[in-house]
Amino acid sequence: MTSNEIDTGRLPRHIAIIMDGNGRWAKRHGLPRVAGHEAGARSVRAAVEACREIGIEALSLYAFSTENWRRSKREVEALFRLLGKYIALELDNIHKEDIRVTIMGRREGLSKRVLGDLTHCEELTARNKSMVLNVAINYGGRAEIADAAKAIAAEVQAGRLALSDIDEACVAKHLYVADLPDPDLLIRTSGELRLSNFMLWQVSYAEIVVTRVLWPDFRKRHLHRAIAEFQSRRRRFGGR
Ligand code: FPP
Repeated sequence: MTSNEIDTGRLPRHIAIIMDGNGRWAKRHGLPRVAGHEAGARSVRAAVEACREIGIEALSLYAFSTENWRRSKREVEALFRLLGKYIALELDNIHKEDIRVTIMGRREGLSKRVLGDLTHCEELTARNKSMVLNVAINYGGRAEIADAAKAIAAEVQAGRLALSDIDEACVAKHLYVADLPDPDLLIRTSGELRLSNFMLWQVSYAEIVVTRVLWPDFRKRHLHRAIAEFQSRRRRFGGR
């Protein structure tokens, strides 16, 4: 499927992707798990390019969850090494494409080097306007809501916020990245039917598209197909 078959008048504003299946892809090819993540990084490039070409406002990617620390030390190190390599290779191009990078997740627990790399991405691209690339690192949806509750409680305690000010908009404003529209489309690769603690607050009304394609095999045509599926749905937001 090509981008010509998509109705550009009814695009999702924000697409979120749970990139799953790197390990299975590696196993299928008789390769170590890390090779699956390396191949997955190439799919990240394809997804970013496709979204930028079509004119999607924001793309959120689940790169590393708070639960991923349970993997072997070797795999965790490889994932962060890959992230650094991706930034080194792609950041110039991302900046040239006028894409703003935002990082969503807990900063505590990340190494100084990773934090430095991520802050550099955010600062360099802060004024870019054409698209937002929001990368979830050390991210958990429940942790995000708990952190928002803590930040709100601190403001109430300091007398800057009244209890009556706490509503859905107030909670949304205290999430890690506050200025993005909610995802309209959530894509999960590799056929698993789970949210895995991803953007729990924000995906309340997202259309979910699950594809059996493993993340390292995910290319532009798969993104176009997911958007076409999204466009075939009737969104009701709880109404009739
Ligand atoms: C899930 O596959 C994928 C991840 C935990 C990490 C995603 C990371 C990348 C695509 C590489 C680098 C990221 C960026 C943003 C450059 P899995 O290992 O859980 O696969 P499995 O379920 O088949 O084992």
